[in-house]
Amino acid sequence: MHLIEDYIEQNKEIINNFLYAYFQKNYNNKCGYLPKENTLTKKSSDFSINDAMYYTVSLGGKRIRPIFLLITAECLGFKNKALLLPFACSIELIHSYSLIHDDLPAMDNDTLRRGKPTNHIVFGEAAAILAGDALLSEAFIMISGNEYIKYFKCDNILKIIQELSFLSGAGGLVGGQFLDIINSGISIDNSVLTEIHDKKTAALIKAACAMGGILGGADDSLITDLKNYGTYLGLAFQALDDLLDITGSSKITGKTSGIDKNNQKSNIASMLGIEETKKLIKEYTEKGISCLDKSNINFNMLKDFSYYLTKRTN
Ligand code: IPE
Ligand code: IPE
Ligand code: MG
Ligand code: MG
Ligand code: MG
Repeated sequence: MHLIEDYIEQNKEIINNFLYAYFQKNYNNKCGYLPKENTLTKKSSDFSINDAMYYTVSLGGKRIRPIFLLITAECLGFKNKALLLPFACSIELIHSYSLIHDDLPAMDNDTLRRGKPTNHIVFGEAAAILAGDALLSEAFIMISGNEYIKYFKCDNILKIIQELSFLSGAGGLVGGQFLDIINSGISIDNSVLTEIHDKKTAALIKAACAMGGILGGADDSLITDLKNYGTYLGLAFQALDDLLDITGSSKITGKTSGIDKNNQKSNIASMLGIEETKKLIKEYTEKGISCLDKSNINFNMLKDFSYYLTKRTN
């Protein structure tokens, strides 16, 4: 009946358990430790870089990027979830780093993330910058050092590393965040805003779908379709994020409502209006889904997930 909801719940728990176990095993993390002093400048600093890294990772979040990877590979018939998890969770590490940096005073200057104080509020700015940097590296350690890597072809692992590093770097997420900053406080047209959303948000979702495709054994043409799908779903995702910034409540989103306006950021919902934005989200989602229709693989689960995401409230 509620297949997709059940799938998401179960897989969120699997992802959270994997991340917890990973930090415990690799860093003997205290997992959940909070500092007494939120600064790195004093000798009395009583936390480690791993505490600051795990803090944001552990706060939960919807885990949609790893779920995109898992569903994509599973629709392609890949059955062994344990083999997929390091790849899926590596994207969550990059996403968590991007949130830590996005909240910094030099970026969006936010104090609330996933319903809790942001990383720099808890650990101080220096530690938050470093925790973000370390999470980015950790993502590639997680992929390349995992015990299951021998089950995949080296060529495919290299392809994955290429996709993930490109789409999280200057050509993707970082490039988008840069454009987001340099275009704040000025009026920009729709096409520039779409480029910003494409890079800062859609790129990582596209990476998740591409990686799921590669791991699931998709051929090049299907990987291209999956990347196009990911791009449209990413654009829909950021359009709804912008809408929720205006219409959502902090209690539910776990973030400061109305922050885009405070920061003079262009927001697609303030540009187009609420109703037009809702239409656009539907349009992007349908365009994304149509990218999957060329193939005769049963992508129903991915399609259900796409529609589920249009209804999210956080
Ligand atoms: C927030 O992402 C940042 C954007 C790219 C819009 P999510 O809405 O996926 O945040 P979490 O992971 O659920 O906290
Ligand atoms: C940020 O977009 C996208 C990232 C790469 C983190 P936003 O700045 O709108 O994301 P939120 O609303 O803070 O989660
Ligand atoms: Mg931002
Ligand atoms: Mg932000
Ligand atoms: Mg936002």
